[in-house]
Amino acid sequence: MHLDYQIHSNQTAFDRQHTKAFQRKYRNHAFQRPLPQRSATAFSWLYARIQSNPRPIILDSGCGKGMSSRFLAARYPNHWVVAVDQSAQRLQAFTGPRASNLLVVQDNCCDFWQQLASSDLEIAMHMLLYPNPYPKRQHEKRRWYAHPLFSQALHLSPLTILRSNWLDYLEQTAIVANQLGFHTSIQLHHTQPGEAITHFEQKYCQHQVPVYELRIVGL
Ligand SMILES: C[S@@+](CC[C@H](N)C(=O)[O-])C[C@H]1O[C@@H](n2cnc3c(N)ncnc32)[C@H](O)[C@@H]1O
Repeated sequence: MHLDYQIHSNQTAFDRQHTKAFQRKYRNHAFQRPLPQRSATAFSWLYARIQSNPRPIILDSGCGKGMSSRFLAARYPNHWVVAVDQSAQRLQAFTGPRASNLLVVQDNCCDFWQQLASSDLEIAMHMLLYPNPYPKRQHEKRRWYAHPLFSQALHLSPLTILRSNWLDYLEQTAIVANQLGFHTSIQLHHTQPGEAITHFEQKYCQHQVPVYELRIVGL
């Protein structure tokens, strides 16, 4: 079977003025989605766990089946690794033994990030690995860089790391991050077979699809 991982988008040009326009709109209108009770309960549980043994926190947003979360928990045993995904189906992969510093939350990042932002928890590093690209131009608002909470998401941590096989997505994210006052750098991310840290990364590596990493650093 031929697998095509090339991103096909009908959006050929990205425009700085256009991103400035939606950032301006977001600054003037508060995000109004009400917080679901389930999300508040999940956050209270997480907060209590972390407060019982405070450590630096690494956030793995959109962790999927959690391969990266497990990797990070092993690599940073003195940190909490908080793995968040909205999909119960993907999170089923976490059943079975797991590292004691790995906390898993089923939640929508929008609800979760807002609660984190209004708490006193500090995030040492925020990973957003291979987010859904939504390549159709008419779906641009579904991409994280075009989301009303993107600015808040960047302010959660002094270091946010995104990886994607779609370079345009990362370049556009970097433009928005720069407009919001963050430093950015993008590099080709070399992954040797056996070293991939997520399922998507593994798939791209197996099929020799180049992937890129964007680092966003707070000033
Ligand atoms: C393309 S997958 C990547 C999964 C994993 N990071 C990887 O690289 O294998 C994107 C993941 O983000 C999750 N996701 C998308 N939007 C989300 C949201 N608003 N809140 C929480 N999770 C979300 C999806 O459920 C999915 O597991």
